[in-house]
Amino acid sequence: MPKHFLHLADIPASDLRDILDEAHVRKSARGAMPKGAIDKDSPAAGHTLAMIFEKSSTRTRFSFDMAMRQLGGSSITATSHDMQLGRGETVEDTAIVLSRFVDGIMLRANSHETLVSLAQNATVPVINGLTDLNHPCQIMADLQTLEERGRTLKGLELAWVGDGNNVAVSFMHAAAKFGFHLRIATPKGYEVSGQELARARGDGANITTTQIARDAAKDADVVIADTFVSMGDKDADLRLTDLAPYEVTEALMERAQKDALFLHCLPAHRGEEVAASVIDGPQSAVFDEAENRLHAQKAILKWCFSS
Ligand code: CP
Ligand code: NVA
Repeated sequence: MPKHFLHLADIPASDLRDILDEAHVRKSARGAMPKGAIDKDSPAAGHTLAMIFEKSSTRTRFSFDMAMRQLGGSSITATSHDMQLGRGETVEDTAIVLSRFVDGIMLRANSHETLVSLAQNATVPVINGLTDLNHPCQIMADLQTLEERGRTLKGLELAWVGDGNNVAVSFMHAAAKFGFHLRIATPKGYEVSGQELARARGDGANITTTQIARDAAKDADVVIADTFVSMGDKDADLRLTDLAPYEVTEALMERAQKDALFLHCLPAHRGEEVAASVIDGPQSAVFDEAENRLHAQKAILKWCFSS
């Protein structure tokens, strides 16, 4: 059975802890090496990752490609439109065929079911590069960022403010695995998936939900925002109106701890989900967070390729 990285809830907490530790070690071991140089131990030598994108990407695409290069392997990228997948070939056949060519597959999918079908039919590891349901690689980078800023995850108070989307879902499951507390503030109609919330709580996550952003942010150690219009969302105008009161402003950040950090997975929309003065201000860790996609994913890839 290949080691897939699809959903944080499916992966033992000790493995996730090991992945984060590996990400820290690997990041610091590189020092000032050029970005294209290969890590000394070259753990993915001889390995090739196929990357398939059904939706746009900047960070996921470039960070996975560079991750494979730094691990001593290589990658092949295609959009689903470039592939027969875009003309109706089944995901099942695609999984079987690609498994004969490559050592792992990363998919960014419109529907989480597509990712699950790919994994069920692949004989190599499959990695979730974001679906409509979740974004687990992103959260590993976010947690790496918090730890390197000196935060201890256990007992940390994180506030999610805005849309109860795919990124929020992965934070809920990470709360169960790493022991931080998560307060989620969403307007009516934009709540996180009830099923995923119940699953995370069943796994031991400490999560509170509210419609009041100021309550979620009060004394928080970390405040997190994401776009109000995710890829695939159709009702952009309505969303921008409904979610506007949930913008992370300086006033909202003042409710949090003085040394609170601001996170955002990017891409960001200044003046919508976050004020420019917050995302470009001293509390923001968003560009370290983006960089850590590379380091966290190297550790994820190594975990997937290990037996
Ligand atoms: N955060 C993130 O996944 O960015 P991309 O959409 O650019 O990959
Ligand atoms: N929630 C966003 C995240 C982008 C990285 C989306 O799904 O579009």
